[in-house]
Amino acid sequence: MDHRGTTAWVNLSAIRSNYRRLAELAKGSAVCPVIKADAYGHGALAVAHALEREGAPYCAVALAKEALELRESGVHMPILVFGVPEHSWSSLAIRLGCAQTIYTEEHVRILASAAKSVGKRAKAHIKVDTGMNRQGLSPTKARAFAGLLADYPEIVVEGIYSHFADADSPDPTFTNLQIERFTAALAEFMQAGIVPKYRHIANSAGLLFHPDSRLDMVRPGILLYGLSPAPGLGLPDGFEPALTLTTSIVHIKEVPAGESISYGRIFTTKRRSRIGLLPIGYADGYPRALSNRATVLIRGMRAPVVGRVCMDMTMVDLTGIPGARAGDEVVVFGGKNLPVSEIADLLSTIDYEVVCMISKRVPRVHIDESSQED
Ligand SMILES: Cc1ncc(COP(=O)(O)O)c(C=O)c1O
Repeated sequence: MDHRGTTAWVNLSAIRSNYRRLAELAKGSAVCPVIKADAYGHGALAVAHALEREGAPYCAVALAKEALELRESGVHMPILVFGVPEHSWSSLAIRLGCAQTIYTEEHVRILASAAKSVGKRAKAHIKVDTGMNRQGLSPTKARAFAGLLADYPEIVVEGIYSHFADADSPDPTFTNLQIERFTAALAEFMQAGIVPKYRHIANSAGLLFHPDSRLDMVRPGILLYGLSPAPGLGLPDGFEPALTLTTSIVHIKEVPAGESISYGRIFTTKRRSRIGLLPIGYADGYPRALSNRATVLIRGMRAPVVGRVCMDMTMVDLTGIPGARAGDEVVVFGGKNLPVSEIADLLSTIDYEVVCMISKRVPRVHIDESSQED
């Protein structure tokens, strides 16, 4: 824990238990937990080691650099890199035994030349764009792409995948269309002689709401962390939030009625107030947009944020919590009693963004009931 007391506690037992729940839902298809962006802010190295102990057969990251960090910390499981291959990183990814995403002729050339330079075949997963319109090969080009790959024996196609745009929607129409397009593209690849070990499309919402999308592998991210795939959806049974962001009261100020608090003077005390100073601010990932809007938990009670959240500090009104003292623990968000979704709603965003915003200077402390570590 750092000297300020501002800490993101990550319960690895919850992550392991969420992983087991995902494996149950996957019903035999391989679970490839998504641990990009530092495991959605939860600390990728500790999360990856915990998953490896659970027997996860695969994991996915966005960048080759993230894969390198995992390997350097002793993670051995297969890793898929979602991002586009680049000359500078591709040979490293091959050396590290990672699979790379390909969907253009340029990607094929990058992987083939990297494979030659390393003297090892490159593992690839072909990405098909079935409607996200972000990354991937048009399904109509599947045949031609398969033909191109035939000239590059340096590349082994281990997987073919796609990504859902709207799997959390109550209307399944578009997701069903994506599944149809993906199935058609897979058939084209198979007819052209490409039969991958892993066909995969399901994210967390796909796994929950579209069991027919499970195929050989599923790629859940957000549910692994015990967070909800979409606003208003709630957390499905059997999942537990893993992260709690806490800080502590470092100072209490008695302020008379009629005094303004913090920059811009957007809050004025209506009564004599006890104002608590918290050593957390927007540089820690507690956004300024929460000024005068959010509450924190102290001694099981809510204390409102008063005035503007500053870069390193935030003030809360402790007047309604008479016993509150300097040194008290403050739950900023996370866990069951102040869910991440509450902050996401205040910010008109999604749980994903709230946890990804927790900045580097906040230490992640990992707790695992079975093996106390950090
Ligand atoms: C390609 C890909 N697959 C899977 C996931 C996991 O999605 P979720 O966190 O919604 O389960 C992501 C996350 O954005 C992704 O980009």
